[in-house]
Amino acid sequence: MDGNGRWATKRHLPRSAGHARGVQSVRNALEYFGALGTRYLTLFAFSSENWRRPSEEVNLLMGLFVQALEREVDELSSKGVRLRVIGDVSRFEPKLQRMIQQAQDTTAHNEAFHLTIAANYGGRWDILQATQKMLSLDPALIDNPSLIDEDSLARHLSMAWAPEPDLFIRTGGEQRISNFLIWQLAYTELYFTDKYWPEFGAGDMDAAVQWYRHRERRFGRTSAQIHAVAEKVN
Ligand code: FPP
Repeated sequence: MDGNGRWATKRHLPRSAGHARGVQSVRNALEYFGALGTRYLTLFAFSSENWRRPSEEVNLLMGLFVQALEREVDELSSKGVRLRVIGDVSRFEPKLQRMIQQAQDTTAHNEAFHLTIAANYGGRWDILQATQKMLSLDPALIDNPSLIDEDSLARHLSMAWAPEPDLFIRTGGEQRISNFLIWQLAYTELYFTDKYWPEFGAGDMDAAVQWYRHRERRFGRTSAQIHAVAEKVN
């Protein structure tokens, strides 16, 4: 969700106004992807590198996060949304940590739509914590490293319960992944747009989905192999 600050600066508004509008775009995205039938939506709200921002901006983002949890969780839950937060939440204020836990508990029985917020998240952190967890659960692996395979490590990643993403969207003009779900994005279609997050509306989401629909997902196979399988199915 990139471009909140630039959206505001372009309008001679404080960066905070961009983040506030960004929250509205989150609501729009939930509505759009919910109506589309998407089951998993993961939003990168705060990276492990975002602590480097001025403390007022970090506090503002934390405040928006608390506010969103206070205001939206009950309604999200009534719509069948299961909310999870991934990332190292231990660095957040205890109040925010409690609210996150409460929101996760309140929505734990839902399964229509999985909304995940990545907060103080980094893809490298995720791989590292998965490795540590795997080894602490099975210390014998240290003497038998060849027993470790992709699946055994992936089982400990913070989104092990979800399928790998089909589509990644980055707004705001940059063309990089910035330490998002680096393991899980290996075969994901990557879509980049110049639109800033606060102005990324339903029409823009539709354009991203249409673009995705025309991608040929080969997962290492040849185009001819993919067509042969498609013909067999049809
Ligand atoms: C990137 O824009 C955006 C963020 C770092 C924060 C995203 C947060 C929100 C949309 C609000 C809170 C979210 C939830 C889920 C309640 P930027 O500040 O990097 O913009 P810039 O690159 O133009 O400066």
